[in-house]
Amino acid sequence: MAEKSRILIIGGTGYIGKFIVEASAKAGHPTYVLVRESTASNPEKSKLIESFKSYGVTLLHGDLYVHESLVKAIKQVDVVISAVSHQVADQVKIIDAIKEAGNIKRFLPSEFGLDVDRHHAVEPAASFFGAKAKIRRAIQAEGIPYTYISNNAFAGYVLSTFGQPNATAPPREKVVILGDGEVKGVYVAEEDIAAYTIKAAEDPKTLNKILYIRPPANTLSFNELVSLWEKKIGKTIEKIYVPEEQILKQIPEAPFPVNFILSISHSMLIKGDATNFEIEPSFGVEATEIYPEVEYTSVDKYLDRVVLDNRRWRESKIFPDPNFLRSTEATAGRLY
Ligand SMILES: NC(=O)c1ccc[n+]([C@@H]2O[C@H](COP(=O)([O-])OP(=O)(O)OC[C@H]3O[C@@H](n4cnc5c(N)ncnc54)[C@H](OP(=O)(O)O)[C@@H]3O)[C@@H](O)[C@H]2O)c1
Repeated sequence: MAEKSRILIIGGTGYIGKFIVEASAKAGHPTYVLVRESTASNPEKSKLIESFKSYGVTLLHGDLYVHESLVKAIKQVDVVISAVSHQVADQVKIIDAIKEAGNIKRFLPSEFGLDVDRHHAVEPAASFFGAKAKIRRAIQAEGIPYTYISNNAFAGYVLSTFGQPNATAPPREKVVILGDGEVKGVYVAEEDIAAYTIKAAEDPKTLNKILYIRPPANTLSFNELVSLWEKKIGKTIEKIYVPEEQILKQIPEAPFPVNFILSISHSMLIKGDATNFEIEPSFGVEATEIYPEVEYTSVDKYLDRVVLDNRRWRESKIFPDPNFLRSTEATAGRLY
């Protein structure tokens, strides 16, 4: 059997990155993580770094902004996966290093959301998607073999609170729904995004393609999500619908990050950007079709986790950074 590709993850200490590191190591890939020295010695990250070591991951000290450190790390592997966040535009630095190293068989830039070439997003999401699209063009112009992961929404981000202002748990009394709640969105568990990403990283079927993750059981309208939730908690909750015109008026007035989250929500939940186009074989493949062996977590099962053991679930790594949620909720609270 062919040897497993060696995989470098840049941004492996981040929210989605840590799932990808774990999936890579558990799938038997020699796994490397580029870690900034300040992060390696940060006590808040020590548990995570220790868990990486326990999976046999190799830590490489380096920084996106230190070219030699990138080249040195990249030369040791076959595949590069980036999971950086605010630095997506600066991934040109990874492209430069990949060019210099000259050995990379596949690059998966930081995407992990909606398809940035097929969307109807307004600002500020439009500019963020534009920065990711620009990285796609740069990769293709250099002839670097690529796969773009379009997983739509992280389940943990949405299902932890159903996107409700000031919430730290899913709603039990009333729920704010953007638009008429009938548009289909897609919600994928973080472990599943990571598992599909690692499968795609060396697969000829995903070479120079977009890997869409659209699990059929996780393609649901917001009304369907709420109805599933109501069944779990055994009660009906009040629904407050916010029309598109009101959302479009609120976005430019809202502070960051509320404006950002609302504009992404508008794209998926009102414009339907997760589901409003067919995946053509010329540009993409769908993960559950090409990897039927992956037993993905359905939204139904995911909500069981939430309802059965809310506290343990909230303390787990699935739950987004509480500081991020607090800042988002504090500002989102003013919107409705
Ligand atoms: N679909 C969705 O629902 C959804 C939700 C959220 C995010 N996303 C997407 O997922 C991707 C990753 O976002 P995230 O929220 O997981 O990111 P994140 O938690 O902010 O993590 C960013 C990572 O980049 C690393 N990093 C930052 N500056 C660096 C530098 N100079 N050199 C090397 N590494 C550096 C960070 O390292 P340190 O640990 O050292 O800081 C961290 O590991 C983005 O493309 C984002 O748009 C999608």
